[in-house]
Amino acid sequence: MHTPVMLLELIDNIFTDPDGVYIDCTGGGGSHSFELLSRLSDKGSLIILDKDLDAVARLQDRFKDYSNVKIIHSSFRDILKVVDDENIEGDVSGIIADFGTSAYQLKDAERGFSFRLEGDIDMRMDRTQEFKASDIVDSYDEHEIFKIIIKYGEEKFARSIARNIVKYRESKRLDTTLELSEVIANSIPKKFHKYGISPATKTFQAFRIYVNKELEDIEILLSSVYRILKVEGRFGAISFHSLEDRLVKKSFIEHAKNCTCPPLLPMCICNRVPEYRIVTRKALVPSPVEVTTNPLSRSAKLRVAEKIN
Ligand SMILES: C[S@@+](CC[C@H](N)C(=O)[O-])C[C@H]1O[C@@H](n2cnc3c(N)ncnc32)[C@H](O)[C@@H]1O
Repeated sequence: MHTPVMLLELIDNIFTDPDGVYIDCTGGGGSHSFELLSRLSDKGSLIILDKDLDAVARLQDRFKDYSNVKIIHSSFRDILKVVDDENIEGDVSGIIADFGTSAYQLKDAERGFSFRLEGDIDMRMDRTQEFKASDIVDSYDEHEIFKIIIKYGEEKFARSIARNIVKYRESKRLDTTLELSEVIANSIPKKFHKYGISPATKTFQAFRIYVNKELEDIEILLSSVYRILKVEGRFGAISFHSLEDRLVKKSFIEHAKNCTCPPLLPMCICNRVPEYRIVTRKALVPSPVEVTTNPLSRSAKLRVAEKIN
């Protein structure tokens, strides 16, 4: 099972109307969806998206007895198309997103997300997509690999990791996640290895983000949410690293601005009305109990905004 992160904090903060329409952008194992559903009346409904077909099959099975749930294989980058197909633009009471990978994906060796399990270097969330992480390690040049690792992994040793990946493949193809982990570990001086954290963590994160265009998807979602929500509707997002959280925070601040005039103007001439009220002034984080019982939650940050105009 995937243990949901900040379950009640997220749902308590976005749930406003038992008769409303809700969208879960990242269905995964369905626990956030389930909590939402348990609060809906017969008139309320829920649309669940996931770009991973395995997750979609699991969700279809879990919610097969619910007539007010629709499960759609789609990236949340295409949420406007979903909303258009369902004819619900401007009618949605709540949207949730819980970014990153699920435990199902991490524990399935053949998906290639884990640096601890032997599998192909794949890392695609949507396996109908052709591009895999192996395409990076097989064919990208050293500078391109370096740029991915530094940009999406913020890894100090990106240069030596990229160099060693290219050097390794001169004599043998990098076939498995464990071979890749070893090349990464050998590229980072031992004194910089941290107890309990694999030296491959940041590089795997970087390749995963790049392969799945994760930040691009999030930016498109953030730019779509305002049109989809009704007034007083809420959007809540859980991020797991600073690159994601920065995007959410920036988008909320932009939408909550009430004046965009240059600071030197003596009076406001833009007459802009703020679109959001930021519900969580500071990001909420998991409780110490949750971090102890589910260490994967430790980097989570929850931000919530409400559409006010
Ligand atoms: C952390 S899990 C969500 C767990 C879920 N909240 C639960 O309660 O079980 C993230 C899920 O989002 C999906 N996902 C990631 N990026 C996506 C995207 N752009 N569009 C749709 N689903 C996405 C992944 O396939 C994964 O199943």
